[in-house]
Amino acid sequence: MLTAYDYSSALLVDKAGMDVILVGDSLAMVMMGLESTNPVTMEVMLHHGRMVARGAKHALLVGDMPFMSFQVSVEEAVRNAGRFLQEGGMEAVKLEGGRAVADRVRAISGAGIPEMGHIGLTPQSVSSLGGYKVQGKTAVAAHTLYQDALALQEAGCFSLVLEAVPAPVAAEISRRLDIPTIGIGAGAGCDGQVLVYHDLLGLFDKFQPKFVKQYADIGGQIVAALAQYRQEVADKTFPAENHTFAMPDEEWERFVALLQE
Ligand code: KIV
Repeated sequence: MLTAYDYSSALLVDKAGMDVILVGDSLAMVMMGLESTNPVTMEVMLHHGRMVARGAKHALLVGDMPFMSFQVSVEEAVRNAGRFLQEGGMEAVKLEGGRAVADRVRAISGAGIPEMGHIGLTPQSVSSLGGYKVQGKTAVAAHTLYQDALALQEAGCFSLVLEAVPAPVAAEISRRLDIPTIGIGAGAGCDGQVLVYHDLLGLFDKFQPKFVKQYADIGGQIVAALAQYRQEVADKTFPAENHTFAMPDEEWERFVALLQE
């Protein structure tokens, strides 16, 4: 699973054969330059969802329910989850939180909307978690995570993201659940993995969590290409003849004559 946020990135992610594309609220940071995911609204998520849906033809499309789209009431949660399918081109939704959101999960899956859970480090609650920290590091905290995972499975999640969880804890939770887990900073014992598109490709260097593996330096390649373009325009090596259009000689001569009239 990988994130994508627009048509062109979805085309590439889909072409690479990814099974799942997440239109994550991480777009707040990597696309919008915000400090956290919390300012992102439903309208923004739906806008990005529609672009992704136009580019991806094979992957399962999951829309990330933004902060305050499901917290206020069960009714709002179902309505907003439904909007992802009706207006945002998505096929499933993801929602952050453990047992506290089990009633939302039950109602959303009861409405026939496939739903992915997300526990461990849940960025929308980063203030109450005391920062971007690994979760489930003590026996009691790990057991709480396990109980959350069970509650979400029981409430109807078809899959579960485990973020920033010690690898042995994530592996044990994965082993005990019937639904597949998708890890991010949770080790190889999860059933699948997810990363943020910009992190994987080297397109975002503001900060890089330990769990990110950067597979390419596309950001570096883009800057080098742009700088070369700028230089070639300045020294007039671009556009060269192969990038320009000619006109028949007689038309050129008539044009010159017309200018002299
Ligand atoms: O918003 C996002 O991109 C996410 C993933 C990192 C799991 O929630």
